[in-house]
Amino acid sequence: MPAYTLTVNGERRTVEAAEDTPLLWVIRDLLNLTGTKYGCGAGLCRACTVHLDGEASFSCQIPIAAVGAKRVTTIEGLSPDRSHPLQQAWIEEDVPQCGYCQPGQIMSAAALLARTPAPSDDQIDDWMKTNLCRCGTYNRIRSAIQRAAAARADAKVGTRSDAHDEEPSHG
Ligand code: FES
Ligand code: FES
Repeated sequence: MPAYTLTVNGERRTVEAAEDTPLLWVIRDLLNLTGTKYGCGAGLCRACTVHLDGEASFSCQIPIAAVGAKRVTTIEGLSPDRSHPLQQAWIEEDVPQCGYCQPGQIMSAAALLARTPAPSDDQIDDWMKTNLCRCGTYNRIRSAIQRAAAARADAKVGTRSDAHDEEPSHG
């Protein structure tokens, strides 16, 4: 079987797999990163969402041979200690019910906030509408994304304020 070297969560990992092996199974079975979930296997539920170069992608639909040099980020790579604003917001809003869809939801939400830091409810609903949740946690997901966006905005204001305080005087 051919060998592929991937960059996953910032680490170079080499695996042997048939060229048509879906990235999802490489992540779960060969790299033991089981946070990424299998739902439909057909590109319909987004339970398997990871980032490829920051873009939300269905890992069940991407053969390993197509990954190339793209950086793969899984839910395990979002932060080492659950400190990402989305993870904090998910905890504070008590979003999950069974939890199965939630890694994919969070990875999609992270891609949304990377391109739209302060999304409206409509933008959230439009972006997240293809991430299916059988438990119907959609309202809490929306609230958590708004909470994370606000937390990030607050953090940026704090950073700017600190930076201003530290500016050298020209007097
Ligand atoms: S498992 Fe990939 S889209 Fe459903
Ligand atoms: S929390 Fe159960 S499927 Fe979404």
